[in-house]
Amino acid sequence: MTLVSIDTDMCRKDGICISACPIGCLTAGPDGFPREVEGSTCIKCGHCVAICPHGALVHNSLPMSDFLPAVRPQTSFAETAALMRNRRSVREFKDSPVPRETMAELLDVARHAPTAKNTMQISFLAIIDPAKARELGEAIARWMLPMPGMERYAGLHAKGEDFVLRDAPSLVLALADADSDWGLTDAGIAISYLELAAAAHGLGTCWGGIVQRALTNNPELARLASVHKNRVVRGALMIGTPKFRYSLVPPRTPAATIWR
Ligand SMILES: Cc1cc2nc3c(=O)[nH]c(=O)nc-3n(C[C@H](O)[C@H](O)[C@H](O)COP(=O)(O)O)c2cc1C
Repeated sequence: MTLVSIDTDMCRKDGICISACPIGCLTAGPDGFPREVEGSTCIKCGHCVAICPHGALVHNSLPMSDFLPAVRPQTSFAETAALMRNRRSVREFKDSPVPRETMAELLDVARHAPTAKNTMQISFLAIIDPAKARELGEAIARWMLPMPGMERYAGLHAKGEDFVLRDAPSLVLALADADSDWGLTDAGIAISYLELAAAAHGLGTCWGGIVQRALTNNPELARLASVHKNRVVRGALMIGTPKFRYSLVPPRTPAATIWR
């Protein structure tokens, strides 16, 4: 067997790993132990190992040292829902930069977001130097301001306000290959993970739609941001310490929902 190794002393032949595999790579052998289905294509999601209650399985491409204990969160639904509902698009930040260690912690959560093919086709570009972020924001503003539809931002810009990055000290870009079929979706989910992790850290975030559009359409700006020429920005998030706290959750239009 090349895909997984079974500890036959530990395995209870309960078939949990077999049913957990999303591709059907495992089956019960004549002896009842799981074995690889010949010709199957494993996506290395790690579920077979992670779900086994007996620790009987090792995936030969996924070192056991890379698995984390599945800590049961102590947070209630109400607390989690509050974190998600209280998250706001923050557009007023304190001057303090986001420390590299904090950003690394957030990105480590974001890389655990689901991706369509579990192949991590996205990557992150973290601009944590406030001066570099400012330079990029200013360059984007200069490029965009003459465009139709941008008139509404001219007043803000004239007052010295940064309508692009909102003076955020840092910016994370989620990148994918231009022809990656799920790049946009994977990046969007990763950015959502990132903003919730940031909120739990007491940080404020705002999606950078303007940044994303600018870096996707202007190769020079993409170069200034250090985006590799083969990569495309599929998500952008400004991150910093919020200057103010919101006291209320704004109302939202009810989402049309069909029940069957
Ligand atoms: C994909 C996307 C792009 C966005 N781009 C920007 C942006 O460039 N600048 C900005 O100030 N807000 C941006 N926003 C924030 C939205 O305006 C904001 O989510 C919306 O007004 C609701 O407010 P809330 O996030 O506080 O709930 C973006 C949001 C999303 C989801």
